[in-house]
Order: sequence, then structure tokens, then C-alpha cells
Amino acid sequence: MHIAAAALDRAAAYRLFISAVVPRPIAWVGSISAEGVDNLAPFSYFMGVSSAPPMLAFSVARTRDGGLKDTARNVLATGEFTVSIPEEATLDAMHQTSAAYTGSEFDGVGIARAVSVRVAPPRVALARVALECRVHQTLEVGNCLLVVGEVVEFHVADELWENGAVRLADYRPVARLGGDAYTTLGRVLHRPPAKP
Ligand SMILES: Cc1cc2nc3c(=O)[nH]c(=O)nc-3n(C[C@H](O)[C@H](O)[C@H](O)COP(=O)(O)O)c2cc1C
Repeated sequence: MHIAAAALDRAAAYRLFISAVVPRPIAWVGSISAEGVDNLAPFSYFMGVSSAPPMLAFSVARTRDGGLKDTARNVLATGEFTVSIPEEATLDAMHQTSAAYTGSEFDGVGIARAVSVRVAPPRVALARVALECRVHQTLEVGNCLLVVGEVVEFHVADELWENGAVRLADYRPVARLGGDAYTTLGRVLHRPPAKP
């Protein structure tokens, strides 16, 4: 099967693309409006893009009328956000925060906030791994706003901390697949660094 991308409308391109590029990690993004209302929503167009300083990027689609989702509006207004990493224990709460709540999803879904150290937006209290970020750059990319953020504070639960890293054996991040499917970590395969 060969499909010219130009032949696909927005919905068809989305359906095909998100089923092909999997699994996608999920940034559960906390932000706060200029008026001080906080917001929480998941984004799976998400990746790390720099190590020193640590930077990550996530992408927020424009609404069909070209408008901004709350997360994009907040991040542009304040320059700050948090990324909490959803795990199996918080999958349903994370999923529910993708619904269009009028007020804060923290209150609408009943998710406890943790106060951040260096930025105003809160994090998810139950998240065992969370990152506080300041906006480095935003970029219009296709129908999305790409947000590149610098990580200014890491939070790792003591129980997951091992030798300066997150202990994989006990970490249960969830990732997004195509359609309405999610996945968890499967078999872990180790390889030593490659040599020529
Ligand atoms: C697991 C998951 C991943 C998502 N990833 C994205 C994404 O990468 N980009 C996007 O624009 N919307 C994504 N969404 C949809 C947003 O979460 C949804 O539009 C949300 O209502 C946006 O919230 P906001 O308006 O408060 O910013 C995703 C939804 C789910 C459940």
C-alpha cells in the first residue's frame, strides 16, 4: 500500500499517522492561564529534543476553526508548564483530562495538585515522575503549535530513584497507540553500545 499524504484529508492523515508512529509517550501538561486558572491535558506528540540543557517538545493541534486549545493559549501567555508522566495507576484520570472541561481539569476530574518549585503551574501529585518547564521556543508546524520547553526541575519519587536515573523495573509509564488504544512497557531488551 502506498498512500500520497496530499490525498488524505485532516482526519484520514491523523488516523493513519497516529497508528504508524507508535508507541508515543504522553506528556500530561499542566499550565495556567493569564487569569490564574490552571489546566491539565495529555499530549502524545511528545519527545525529548535536547540533553544539555534538557529540553522537550510537544505539539498542540489547532482547533478546526484555527483557534488555540487552552494549553497552547496558556503556555504562550505565561511561558511556563509542567509535564507529569502518566502511569498505569493514573491512566484513567489522564484520559479523562482530555475532555473539554470549562474550568480546571484538576477540579473537574478530581486530581490532586502538587505545588511546583520553579514555575507557577502545578503538577499531578500522584505523578512519580514530573518535569517543570519554561518555554524555549514555539513554532507553527502544519496544523499544530510546537512548544519547545527547557526542563528546569525534575521530580522523581524516591522509590523510583536509582543511580541518578528512574528505575525502569518499577516504572509503569503508559503510551498511546492508534485509535483509542494505549500500551504499557512490554519486554525490555538490552544491547551494549554499538561499535563499528
Ligand atoms: C492520550 C492522549 C493524547 C493526546 N495527544 C494530543 C496531542 O499530541 N496534541 C493535541 O493537540 N491533542 C492531543 N490530545 C487531545 C487533547 O488532550 C485534548 O484536545 C484536550 O482537550 C486539550 O485540552 P486543553 O484545551 O485544555 O488544552 C490527546 C488526547 C489524549 C487522550
